[in-house]
Amino acid sequence: MDFTNIKQALQRLPDGAAEPIVCSIFITQLLKTLEFDITETIPGFATGNGNDTVDYAVRKNSNSDIFIHTKLNPYLLMEVKGRNINLHSKSAQYRTTVCQLKRYLLASKCQSAQWGIIANGDYIQLFRKHGKVIHPALPCLEITLNNVDTIISAIKQKIDNPQKALTVAVYNNKGGVGKTTTTVNLAAILAMLGKRSLIVDFDPNQKDLTNSLGLKVSPDSLYSWLVNKTAPLSAGLINTCKFSPKPGISWQFDIIGSDEKLQSVEEDKLRQMISYARLRQALEPFKSQYDYILIDSPPNWRFFSKSAIYAADVVLIPTKHNSIFSLENAATVLERFIPEIQNERNDGGPIALPIFYNGESITDPAKRTAEQTINKIIERAKNNKTANSIDLTPYFYPRYTPANQNYYIFSIPSYAHIAGAAFTRTPAAYKNKTACEHYLALTKEYFLQ
Ligand SMILES: Nc1ncnc2c1ncn2[C@@H]1O[C@H](COP(=O)(O)OP(=O)(O)OP(=O)(O)O)[C@@H](O)[C@H]1O
Ligand SMILES: [Mg+2]
Repeated sequence: MDFTNIKQALQRLPDGAAEPIVCSIFITQLLKTLEFDITETIPGFATGNGNDTVDYAVRKNSNSDIFIHTKLNPYLLMEVKGRNINLHSKSAQYRTTVCQLKRYLLASKCQSAQWGIIANGDYIQLFRKHGKVIHPALPCLEITLNNVDTIISAIKQKIDNPQKALTVAVYNNKGGVGKTTTTVNLAAILAMLGKRSLIVDFDPNQKDLTNSLGLKVSPDSLYSWLVNKTAPLSAGLINTCKFSPKPGISWQFDIIGSDEKLQSVEEDKLRQMISYARLRQALEPFKSQYDYILIDSPPNWRFFSKSAIYAADVVLIPTKHNSIFSLENAATVLERFIPEIQNERNDGGPIALPIFYNGESITDPAKRTAEQTINKIIERAKNNKTANSIDLTPYFYPRYTPANQNYYIFSIPSYAHIAGAAFTRTPAAYKNKTACEHYLALTKEYFLQ
């Protein structure tokens, strides 16, 4: 890697340089520093979505598959702006640029892309794509002569060593909204689709996830793994749940169940022994083995849920349309709790996925009442003059644009077979066709491209 040159390129880049200058002086050198050569780089790559073209698509060549010839399967997309565009993460132009990059990453000819970069010579940010999920892999960083080497080296380190797993925390500080039910059925559907999942019961006071799968609660496995840092296998930490819903078919996922010890130790004492960051660190070795790591967390904003969110790339928030408290709680997660952890982690994550309604039948008038409540919550959050001011629209109405005013929110209705499944120790998605369809729809809505 020739970092001297990237520094020189930055030094030569004029203040206020327009996009073509940023491309020719800085980005060309940046791509070289990331070790993509000229035959591995396509400027103005057609994404497959209408006339959309992204500024650069890159991918390593392999034997006879030369990227500039085949023009297939890009690995990383880069959207470049001039220095006259403000890419500070609080600016409107930043938000527009991120939306643009996301649209490109999800376009038909870019399905293979795993990374996206936005850059303008003043700022740069790396995003990761896993299935349909696009999340920051680094914060939006201001580039200076002093830090440019470190930043580009951090980006290179990430894109050269992609992690397999997406880590998802299922959380709402409101109780009984379907966190545990969602976790188990999501793992069930992912297994059905050939994905490897690990689920973690991080609600030791209830242990609903462990119990709902009929597993024996161990006296001490999770506790020692976290506190004493024992090797995961020797601690008997991981169990495999196997199901054979039809003859000849077998699906399975792995679980880290909760244990007695973790429940018995007082929270204050536990916090003295381990930090919120410990679960994230402990899960690191599993990220190359699984496609998904799903963490079930307890209601309330305390040690276990903070740890779960700290460990996550993204947070999935089940909520109820008919409870103002549930909607308010979802807003609190978005406005306060996730930003709190983002500040601590300082790597751009985690981010929330849009909320979904779970377990209620929704009439049209009820839907409109919920919309009114949500609109008020969105207004209040926008007008919040503190540093926490945030546009909640994409988290409540992911398909909304000012032009289409689409108030769609994904929902899983109340369904008796879902409620009854916990007693049979089998995920509802494996027992009942309609339940399976609901969770398949959820999995496609949020995770699969
Ligand atoms: N879509 C649904 N239809 C019917 N019942 C459901 C549905 N989703 C969840 N339930 C039921 O609602 C109850 C609460 O669900 P669950 O335990 O998953 O919520 P939770 O958010 O994990 O609760 P807690 O906050 O206590 O951890 C359970 O009895 C579950 O079976
Ligand atoms: Mg639960």
